[in-house]
Amino acid sequence: MDLARQFGTPTFVYDAAKIVERLNDLRHFDVVRYAQKAASNLAILDLLRRHGALVDAVSAHEIRRALAAGYPAQGDPPPVVYTADIFDADSLGLVVRENVHVNCGSPDMIDQYGSVAPGRAITLRINPGFGHGHSRKTNTGGDCSKHGIWHEQLHDCLVTAEHYGLSVTGVHVHIGSGTDLEHLSQVCGALEKAAVEVGRNVQSISVGGGLPVPYREGQSYVDLDAYFRRCDAVRKRLEARFGHPVRLEIEPGRYLVAESGFLISEIRAVKKQGGNTFYLVDAGFNNLARPILYGAYHPIAIAPADGHANRPEIEAIVGGPLCESGDIFTQDEGGFVAPRRLPLAAVGDYLVIECAGAYGFVMGSNYNSKPLAAEVLVRNGQPHLVRQRQSFDDLVRGESIPPA
Ligand code: LLP
Repeated sequence: MDLARQFGTPTFVYDAAKIVERLNDLRHFDVVRYAQKAASNLAILDLLRRHGALVDAVSAHEIRRALAAGYPAQGDPPPVVYTADIFDADSLGLVVRENVHVNCGSPDMIDQYGSVAPGRAITLRINPGFGHGHSRKTNTGGDCSKHGIWHEQLHDCLVTAEHYGLSVTGVHVHIGSGTDLEHLSQVCGALEKAAVEVGRNVQSISVGGGLPVPYREGQSYVDLDAYFRRCDAVRKRLEARFGHPVRLEIEPGRYLVAESGFLISEIRAVKKQGGNTFYLVDAGFNNLARPILYGAYHPIAIAPADGHANRPEIEAIVGGPLCESGDIFTQDEGGFVAPRRLPLAAVGDYLVIECAGAYGFVMGSNYNSKPLAAEVLVRNGQPHLVRQRQSFDDLVRGESIPPA
């Protein structure tokens, strides 16, 4: 409630200690490369950099964010890696100028990069022919996925790379987001096969991201020790085969930041529609799109404005302010409204959507001309405003009315 009063609502709040704790869980991997698409605020990038994580970028501006947060463009291992399926003019120009490492996700990327930067090192993102995610929309492998170089085209890509004098120094596989140990482990086999095909030039393998976090009671984490052992076994076999060290990278987004984040909103209306009670808050899918996009479940808590916590529970549906009926936080995949047992609440109470640190703010929009929310990082017990709420001027910046 203090944060809501100090910074207003809706506001994303991140707990720095939780991010660092999750990073430390993965310390057995040689490189933890943060997939910043999950939450790309400069303060979060800076925090992870200070604690030893390297970073992944999927666009020119994500590269610029990494540089603005203090990552050098080049190094060994590469501090920043551009992983994508295409280059646009900006990203191609930037990786060439700054010599940012490129992980190519399509044969065309190899061609386009090779023709302007022959002789560089690249890695290849392979689509192993299978994938898995928490939703069909987050499955990034198999023949219905646009991602990565199709595994059967690896040989042709190696020929293309050689043509340009590009050396292929590593392979990468990311099959989806929010998957399970079985599918994650299959990644290891696919990586080994691809690395053997590439041959002795391979210096690194990346198992991608995808580690799930528990959003609902009863869900759990994957067994990280078991997962690491499987990845490490592949790495060791490759080292024995090639006769040199092979770096083992992991590329999590969600795992590092999801649980650190809370979206604080205020209840602005309580409505009865027939037999249903709706809590309408001042945050909507313009702030957190995961429920409307995937039917994603997020824990919800109420902070009563009068401080009295012992409220009876009722079944309520939580919606936002947007002029669209899908603007509901409690919904299942397919858009079915799902009432939730929540404390009895009134206008003026705060409603907190939990586990909102990953793919929350970053997927926000200006729909209905709503400003992007404020972001606050709590570090050592101190809240820091790390992004101001957008103003009207921010919202219309760059727009103009042509002369009559
Ligand atoms: N590496 C690559 C190449 C990726 O495409 C992704 C996620 C990651 C790593 C990180 O995956 P993670 O560890 O976060 O699962 N908006 C969706 C998730 C989309 C993920 C896109 N790629 C959601 O809200 O669930």
